[in-house]
Amino acid sequence: MPISTARPAPRTAAETHSSEVRRLATLLDTSQALTGTIDLKAGLHRVLEVLGRHHGAVRSSVVMLDDDTGQLRVEASDGLDNGYRVSYQLGEGITGRVVQSGKPIVVPQISREPMFLNRAAKRSELPQQELSFICVPIVLNRKAVGALGVDLRFKADRDYDRTQKFLGVVASMISQAVKVQRLIDGERKRLLDENTHLRQELKERYDFSNLLGTSGPMRQICEQVSQVARTMTTVLIRGESGTGKELIAHAIHYNSLRANKPFVKVSCAALPESLIESELFGYEKGAFTGAQQRKKGRFELAEGGTLFLDEIGDINLATQVKLLRVLQEREYERLGGTETLKTNVRLVTTNKDLEKAIAEGTFREDLYYRMNVFSIFVPPLRERKTDLLLLADHFLESFSRTHSKNIKRISTPAIDMLMSYHWPGNVRELENTLERAVLVCDGHVIHAHHLPPTLQTAEASGTVTRVSLKDAVAAYEKDLIQDALKTTRGNRAKAARLLNATERIINYQVRKYSIDYRRFKN
Ligand SMILES: Nc1ncnc2c1ncn2[C@@H]1O[C@H](COP(=O)(O)OP(=O)(O)OP(=O)(O)O)[C@@H](O)[C@H]1O
Ligand SMILES: [Mg+2]
Repeated sequence: MPISTARPAPRTAAETHSSEVRRLATLLDTSQALTGTIDLKAGLHRVLEVLGRHHGAVRSSVVMLDDDTGQLRVEASDGLDNGYRVSYQLGEGITGRVVQSGKPIVVPQISREPMFLNRAAKRSELPQQELSFICVPIVLNRKAVGALGVDLRFKADRDYDRTQKFLGVVASMISQAVKVQRLIDGERKRLLDENTHLRQELKERYDFSNLLGTSGPMRQICEQVSQVARTMTTVLIRGESGTGKELIAHAIHYNSLRANKPFVKVSCAALPESLIESELFGYEKGAFTGAQQRKKGRFELAEGGTLFLDEIGDINLATQVKLLRVLQEREYERLGGTETLKTNVRLVTTNKDLEKAIAEGTFREDLYYRMNVFSIFVPPLRERKTDLLLLADHFLESFSRTHSKNIKRISTPAIDMLMSYHWPGNVRELENTLERAVLVCDGHVIHAHHLPPTLQTAEASGTVTRVSLKDAVAAYEKDLIQDALKTTRGNRAKAARLLNATERIINYQVRKYSIDYRRFKN
């Protein structure tokens, strides 16, 4: 709805030509200003400056409609002192009407326009000469979301129609930039929400209550986790495959003060030897063929949090030297880089048998001592049968839920089979066994025949070789002594007191059953 009073005076061809060139140059500058930055506000500011410089805009501003409040807010301004503090209601004043109607308004002489509110500057601050005001909408998806307003010096011969069209083009470029910005903001918000949600989920999944087990060793492990979680101490978790080492590493992280920082895992055994260093420490652009840009290492990604090095025994000796330095001095360089990076990460590592690796010369002893500050030993499942039923019930319930089955219990013969099996794959094997059983079971009870062939041993087929009383007693005795030694952390005198026996007898039994009491020291 252009309100146009003055008729433009005819111009010379040269004048028209030079102003067209100026407009094209401005459009180019506008496009560069808007695409050259991801900060929309800064881009808008530059556009307004260009309008001031090349088109004699005395004042200019971009207002945007705030969807939540329904108010118009100044997003960027040029030549206005208090521009940022101004806001309009939709439909209020000329700017408000432009946004409401989605149509441009041209006021050739603002002194004659009663609708002109002039919120942005006090009368006294206004230049003494007459001004023209041109306001064009910023349209997104066919809806006005803001406006570009420009004050120009009044000139009776100005071609207002052309000027308004030109500003319309600038406004449509701004709307493209707004669109991109909103897409980016939307995506960022979505990612942030998703991240918060995932972190919460991880925290719940790996909080203490997921570490099931009521056996003595499991209770001790929980105690160790809570002791060490609050410290910066490097932790070494040992145990056979599938005993729950990774679960414990998670529990340490999510119960520490670093719970909101990253938990980064490196599977040392799965990474080729040539890659491990660059994975851990990152590299600079050009560090080697193929290093096209700088890459952050896992240490950098885990900053402030926990770095979990699974199967540390598999890393090569050269990397071990670098790792030792990080542990001692808490600093390192990226591959091909000279900048020394400080690191604040807690290391949690796992390994089955580091002592063997040291004996074989594949693992540095000094690094072993650095990592073995606090060690947690997870006994194999066959040595903590009390946990077995608890875990079996837990897996039964959770797989019944995920596979939408209504299985209530495990039959006694099936339980006997679970109890007599030696579980070389530990908890992971038990977990897989129960998932399989749930899948093949079509009733409410898991029966012996739902268990895999590996468990269908002598017991189920009735060909079990009966153990002699002597062997059974010996096995029980050995178990009792091992349990006591675990409780006393390998102290034989205390274990003897616990069992109401003498130290001499215990020493004799330890030798007889070849029990390695040193293993319980940590
Ligand atoms: N105490 C436990 N309570 C509940 N689930 C457990 C427990 N211990 C282990 N699990 C489950 O058993 C599976 C194997 O555990 P995890 O991956 O932590 O073992 P691991 O010791 O790291 O094995 P590996 O040495 O083969 O990597 C996981 O699915 C884990 O959730
Ligand atoms: Mg693991």
